Amino acid sequence: MKIAIVGATGAVGQQMLQCLEERNFDCDLKLLASARSKGKVFSYRGKDVVVEELNEHSFDDVDYALGATENDLTKKWMPWAQKNNVIVVDNSSAFRLDPDVPLVIPEINPEDIAKNHGLIANPNCATIIALVALNGLNKRYKIKRIICSTYQAVSGAGVKGIKDLENQSKDPSIPSQAFQYQIAYNLIPQIGSFDDLGISKEEWKMQNEGRKIWHNDDLLVNCTCVRVPIYRSHSESITIECEEEVDVKEAQEIVAKTEGCVLKDDPKNGIYPMPLDTTNQDLVYVGRIRKDISDLTGHSLIVFCCGDQIRKGAATNAVQILEKLVK
Ligand SMILES: NC(=O)c1ccc[n+]([C@@H]2O[C@H](COP(=O)([O-])OP(=O)(O)OC[C@H]3O[C@@H](n4cnc5c(N)ncnc54)[C@H](OP(=O)(O)O)[C@@H]3O)[C@@H](O)[C@H]2O)c1
Repeated sequence: MKIAIVGATGAVGQQMLQCLEERNFDCDLKLLASARSKGKVFSYRGKDVVVEELNEHSFDDVDYALGATENDLTKKWMPWAQKNNVIVVDNSSAFRLDPDVPLVIPEINPEDIAKNHGLIANPNCATIIALVALNGLNKRYKIKRIICSTYQAVSGAGVKGIKDLENQSKDPSIPSQAFQYQIAYNLIPQIGSFDDLGISKEEWKMQNEGRKIWHNDDLLVNCTCVRVPIYRSHSESITIECEEEVDVKEAQEIVAKTEGCVLKDDPKNGIYPMPLDTTNQDLVYVGRIRKDISDLTGHSLIVFCCGDQIRKGAATNAVQILEKLVK
């Protein structure tokens, strides 16, 4: 079995390599990137693998591909993969809302994988973290509406985002490559471009993708996405409004049993989710669970969650899908 990682030198591609290795995935690897990276060498299960420049013949001998490039590039190479009947799990947002493309979080809708026609999309990173945190609560209380503020790490903008924070932490006058403004000692309430409603592209994703993953076209989401000067792991403050009346104690028990979640909820003793604690592991930490005192109906709950967006929000989720495909 030959697996290609497309965008193998980027933040997500490098993490995919590590995830496959950690899971002892038995395959030959092909690492693809731009001409800039041609000839770089990475190790996989004790063997050196040399990065190749992506071109239209890259997929001739490949069975599965993990995509970790930006949308424009993904759209360019996808037909080359499809011509060779390669099954692709893609991380970009290029095809996520295409009705013929399953959008999958394996803990939530693994059954959708079987509906693929050679392409499965990985959801947006903040969406994966929120939906994993909320999935058990959604089953019990039926979530109608989500109000979410995100605190998104610089690595969500790839290698350039990490470099910007490294550089500007030492010298704030170094210009940003990934962001509109200085990110060190700052935060930026913009991720992606804004539409006429004043909503950014990132802010639309949780509603559009959440509806598809939960198979609930009535789900309403209002999101404010903010880039913050931390390296890794997105955090999210989320208010949910449900069909059923909520109970805090029961909600904690539900979260503790939800697949992919860890309950970290003892605030009086200083226990709550923090991004440093979720970095470089695959689980979503959930805490600060409390009633929304501004909703007198008792149907609203607030949670705070953190998850490593390069792992569970991207690479690990894709490798989990690949594992199910291969089985
Ligand atoms: N970072 C995250 O937390 C995250 C989370 C979820 C989804 N995603 C999505 O995952 C995708 C990758 O993101 P990333 O953060 O890993 O980006 P990144 O760090 O900027 O990496 C981009 C990758 O694309 C390659 N590339 C660029 N131009 C190319 C070309 N002309 N031909 C072939 N390869 C080329 C780069 O290769 P070179 O090194 O050779 O330039 C690099 O391997 C994006 O669609 C992003 O939206 C990212």
